Amino acid sequence: MCRTIKAVLESSAALEDVKARGWVRTRRDAKGFSFLEINDGSCLGSLQVLIDAGVPGSEEVALMLTGSSVEVRGKLVESPGAGQAWELHAAEVRLIGKASGDYPLQKKRHGPEFLREIAHLRPRTNLFGAIFRTRSRLAHAVHRFFEERGFVWVHTPIVTASDCEGAGEMFRVTTQKVGGGKDVPEEDFFGKASYLTVSGQLEGETFACALSKIYTFGPTFRAENSNTTRHAAEFWMIEPEMAFCDLKGDMDLAEEFVKALTRSVLEGPQDDFGLFSNFVDKGLEERLRFIAERPFERVSYTEAVAILEKSGKSFEYPVAWGENLQSEHERYLTEEHCKCPVTVYDYPEAIKPFYMRRNDDGKTVAAMDVLVPGIGEIVGGSQREERYELLRATMEKDGLDVEAYGWYLDLRKYGSVPHAGFGLGFERMLMLATGVQNIRDVIPYPRTPGHCLP
Ligand code: 4AD
Ligand code: MG
Repeated sequence: MCRTIKAVLESSAALEDVKARGWVRTRRDAKGFSFLEINDGSCLGSLQVLIDAGVPGSEEVALMLTGSSVEVRGKLVESPGAGQAWELHAAEVRLIGKASGDYPLQKKRHGPEFLREIAHLRPRTNLFGAIFRTRSRLAHAVHRFFEERGFVWVHTPIVTASDCEGAGEMFRVTTQKVGGGKDVPEEDFFGKASYLTVSGQLEGETFACALSKIYTFGPTFRAENSNTTRHAAEFWMIEPEMAFCDLKGDMDLAEEFVKALTRSVLEGPQDDFGLFSNFVDKGLEERLRFIAERPFERVSYTEAVAILEKSGKSFEYPVAWGENLQSEHERYLTEEHCKCPVTVYDYPEAIKPFYMRRNDDGKTVAAMDVLVPGIGEIVGGSQREERYELLRATMEKDGLDVEAYGWYLDLRKYGSVPHAGFGLGFERMLMLATGVQNIRDVIPYPRTPGHCLP
């Protein structure tokens, strides 16, 4: 039976006959025998294989260059060498696919920039293998979290005609020939202009106003020209939405969620986590424990502005009530002032989208952002405006086509309820979980301005 290398390495006893497959990481030749390190991505570790000259298939060992795929069968025995419990003494080896000598992942350690250029091969490195196994486990942890709490997973559309965030940063979807000077949305595939979604929230709200507690988890797209280490044009977002819920309940859930995901990483396989905490970010474990165990701070936007004004720091962007908090402000609040995650709430109405619930002060809306050390904003959410007249007035003021959003207004006409939700950027959560500093390195194929490979 063929086993994963993970299963082989975790074996509790020596085994007479084991088969495994994988890609060659290294080969060392000596007189009369060779050693292969093979890895199949099932775990961080590689399997050491001893091949004596003369075993069937050994005549091809010289062709088993780094990157080749091989199958080995033999006896699993205790390894005399340091660093591994088991090694396999081959009774038979087989070259499945040769790798040519120009395979770019040779022994030398490569930097992240070079590896981004070969995104199709980087999952074969230790670091990227660990990142993408962690990404998969974290996605399962997301579903477990909501499943345990009775939330229904809703698959909101990727192609949409509405602009949730109202920022106009959408990718148009069209079948019309470009360059022909023709742009007639009415003649386009859907009979109107359509886009890749920036958020599943608005459609999510319609399901929350029926199934009470829902969440979405899917790709979202933003055509914003932000070339930063925390922005991607395609990223995944998790968006819970709860009927009969206010801003406080929303902030509570966001905090619980970030903590639960953090715990799941701490409790996950220690080989992958050890790679991050030893080689990516030495302070990772301490930071994650702190996030998992301690309550987050909560400050209103108005208090946050006062803290920033009193900080004595000279920020690149000025601090003033009514302006957006910039990344440098967010990071000061969470890294230097609070020294822990902080939820900022009640933002000025003028800088937030139309759907947020107006507060009684006439100036702010029931919005909230969760900020975490090293990253800044990881969650953005709000209580939604459930009052028909107020929502409609804001939509008109913001220049939205009220007819086109009739379905959204209907929720406020037929049994409207207070409801709230948020979006967590999945890649930003992965950056927090692994200590990896660049969003391009936690998504399989990063899309950023000027870059779309393959
Ligand atoms: O704050 P945002 O824009 O909120 C929304 O889209 C709401 N509709 C969510 C909701 O209430 N249901 O985005 C939410 C989160 C951010 O906090 C950030 O973590 C992530 O999505 N995010 C990005 N991640 C990577 N690249 C980008 N360009 C991102 N833009 C937002
Ligand atoms: Mg936001």
